[in-house]
Amino acid sequence: MSPEFDRYARPWRSRFEPLLSHYLPRPDAQRPALADAMAYSLGSGGKRIRPILVYATGAALNREPDRALDCVAVSVECLHAYSLVHDDLPAMDDDDLRRGHPTCHIAYDEATAILAGDALQTLAFELLAGCDDLAAGQRVALISDLARASGATGMVLGQAIDLGAVDRQLTLEELERMHRHKTGALIRASVTMGARASNASETQLANLIEYAEAIGLAFQVQDDILDVTAETGTLGKRQGADVSRHKPTYVSLLGLEDARAKGRELLEQSLDALGGFGSGADALRELARYIVERDH
Ligand code: IPE
Ligand code: IPE
Ligand code: MG
Ligand code: MG
Ligand code: MG
Repeated sequence: MSPEFDRYARPWRSRFEPLLSHYLPRPDAQRPALADAMAYSLGSGGKRIRPILVYATGAALNREPDRALDCVAVSVECLHAYSLVHDDLPAMDDDDLRRGHPTCHIAYDEATAILAGDALQTLAFELLAGCDDLAAGQRVALISDLARASGATGMVLGQAIDLGAVDRQLTLEELERMHRHKTGALIRASVTMGARASNASETQLANLIEYAEAIGLAFQVQDDILDVTAETGTLGKRQGADVSRHKPTYVSLLGLEDARAKGRELLEQSLDALGGFGSGADALRELARYIVERDH
């Protein structure tokens, strides 16, 4: 991680990590595995990009971290964790390694992983609905942002396109549409929700969304690149998983060099979108650089 990005991310991560156990359910005496599997899936090893985006968006709008941003940050990470648990299931990507540990369905069992994912998803919405530090109208808008980004017009649609594309050649437009949905939508929502909770103006929101759309796509471009170039030990998930499963990716379509060029082009676009913001947006700028330069 670059020292510049780490300087911003470290205090937000320190604030964020203890919040997770605070918001997670206590294990049920009759079926403790469910809450355990939820905690396991949310547990350490995640880069926490989406919560950091929430706090960094707040910073761009001169909002200090507070309990409203905490609710949003935990909520988007719960949604993300659910998407990973289901993404790794045998019926989807069938992966056995995540963040350097056995995937949820390997550590527990398939039914528990499905249910833990379901419960993480609903917890995300429960947290927003119950966040006393936000006005009722704001909560409804945030719930709507997250629902649209996650469901059949967002992440879930992207996952459906992804699974339907195995062994097929996609055009560049189709690949980009898939990536914008499966990964970009939740990244965009993290920024939109952080901006909404920080009372952004319409113009600020539009610029921040432009930034988020560029880094959201760049994020999945780099994920595709790392599948080819990283070591399993650094990556925390199996290297070559996309290649072995014949998944269309930026690298399979464009080749490594053009995929890297695409990442750089998106980085420039994201920085341009922040042109109207002052030094408060430096964390967002460093985060964009980190997204295309990260090694896991
Ligand atoms: C991985 O997301 C899945 C994609 C959307 C590409 P991250 O790379 O953010 O995963 P963690 O949370 O850091 O493990
Ligand atoms: C997953 O994309 C995106 C979501 C979980 C929504 P990938 O399948 O490429 O993610 P990894 O590589 O398994 O983390
Ligand atoms: Mg997948
Ligand atoms: Mg996967
Ligand atoms: Mg991947």
